[in-house]
Amino acid sequence: MSRARITLDRDFTLGEVPRRLFGSFVEHMGRCVYTGIFEPGHPEADENGFRQDVLKLVKELGATVIRYPGGNFVSGYNWEDGIGPRENRPRRLDGAWHTVETNAFGLHEFVDWSRQAGTEIMEAINLGTRGVDAAREIVEYANHPGGTYWSDLRAKNGHKDPFDIKLWCLGNEMDGPWQIGHKTAEEYGRLAQEAAKAMRFVDPDIELVACGSSSSGMPTFGDWEQTVLTHTYDEVDYVSLHAYYQEHEGDVGSFLASAVDTDYFIESVIATADAVRAKGKHKKHINLSFDEWNVWYQRGLDTEDQPHNVAKAGWREHPRVIEDKYNVTDAVVVGTLLNSLLRHGDRVKIANQAQLVNVIAPILSEENGPAWRQTIFHPFARMAELARGQILRLSVDSDKYENARFGGTDLVDVSATWNEETGRVALFFANRGLEEAADVEVALRGFDARRVIRAEVLEIPEGGDRFTANTQSTPNQVGLKPLEGAKASGSELRATLPALSWAVIELEVVKN
Ligand code: AHR
Repeated sequence: MSRARITLDRDFTLGEVPRRLFGSFVEHMGRCVYTGIFEPGHPEADENGFRQDVLKLVKELGATVIRYPGGNFVSGYNWEDGIGPRENRPRRLDGAWHTVETNAFGLHEFVDWSRQAGTEIMEAINLGTRGVDAAREIVEYANHPGGTYWSDLRAKNGHKDPFDIKLWCLGNEMDGPWQIGHKTAEEYGRLAQEAAKAMRFVDPDIELVACGSSSSGMPTFGDWEQTVLTHTYDEVDYVSLHAYYQEHEGDVGSFLASAVDTDYFIESVIATADAVRAKGKHKKHINLSFDEWNVWYQRGLDTEDQPHNVAKAGWREHPRVIEDKYNVTDAVVVGTLLNSLLRHGDRVKIANQAQLVNVIAPILSEENGPAWRQTIFHPFARMAELARGQILRLSVDSDKYENARFGGTDLVDVSATWNEETGRVALFFANRGLEEAADVEVALRGFDARRVIRAEVLEIPEGGDRFTANTQSTPNQVGLKPLEGAKASGSELRATLPALSWAVIELEVVKN
């Protein structure tokens, strides 16, 4: 049995939980849109073609803000192709994923779908093949009340009232050589600055995200942020980060410690943004938008649904692409990545798990068939539900384990929130120990615990192993079940976390 001692204090808070931390991402990629959220003719689809079985799961997941329409896709996309009567919309080649885009689903459909889902829109613009003009025109189309060419066209296309989209991404992964219209930091920084200015002339109330690095491993990481922010500091509100993790060659220890990289990445971007602030004598802070993150097995050249093999199969409509099947280990890692985001919630204000349905997603759906929850659905859904109020700053003293990539790493990973209105403290734990349970002791300062309201755990199911996943025929094999034995009274909480598990404990507390 390993041990972890955690101390939290009512007075040591990091600020309000940014609800946009629980974002997701819908890209025109593979089957995320088509046969994911949109499938006219499916028995569960409404008159718009929106799958209600998928929507129900999206609501249960609790995603708050959804980035759209890409991703690499957006860097070759003409947003005007997706508006107006469907029969007039062009079929186009999408070079990013080597597919045929029918444009049956576009901006209006996404706005209507988002309203049904109850989610905020985070719209990405194309700064790969397009520029300032298209950037300002889409803002006019979406947000201007009326009486101009683009706003009247929106009305003619069925939406008299503005969409009022607040959050905009200035392109996608422009540091990546794989990106259509890839640019140097200097080229991108200038373009993003001018696009941002023109967009704000149309609507001064929008919030803008500049592209940061596609991962902390990019050769330009650091320099990229510095150059881009030097050009855009006054015009933008956020800089983006993207990160995907996977188990390499059976090195599960390093995989389980992936959040160490997330911490490093976030803290490095904060340092760089603040250095640009100091050098430029700026007053405001640039915050972080971690707008793509997840586990993603970017594996074998022999796997049919990998992008290079999808390309070999020729131009198709919405083929299967990167439909990763997530297991128990992946869910534990996702729990730690969410913890890292929450622990940095004073500066990370937006985060989007990539993606929402089918494509590296918490929800899977079959064409003409059912939809179900992957293992990674569960930590996300519970944190989105319960992480409310203030983020608590924690002192953690955990036993460690050695791994090849990060050295000594805490076996127990944790984050916590305090909701003064409801009198609840929520703690989100991961036990990275593969064999050992963890004995956890939490000292509460400034609170008295009244009772445990909820204690749940995701662990290896009976008869399974760490690779057990949910499938179409066994959709509920891995899920949350009661965590037995969690006890709280006065200033102490005690619990035992099973080996390789993710757990949540919610307490009723009173101030003392
Ligand atoms: O989410 C899948 C892809 O990963 C996105 O299109 C791209 O932005 C990233 O490289």
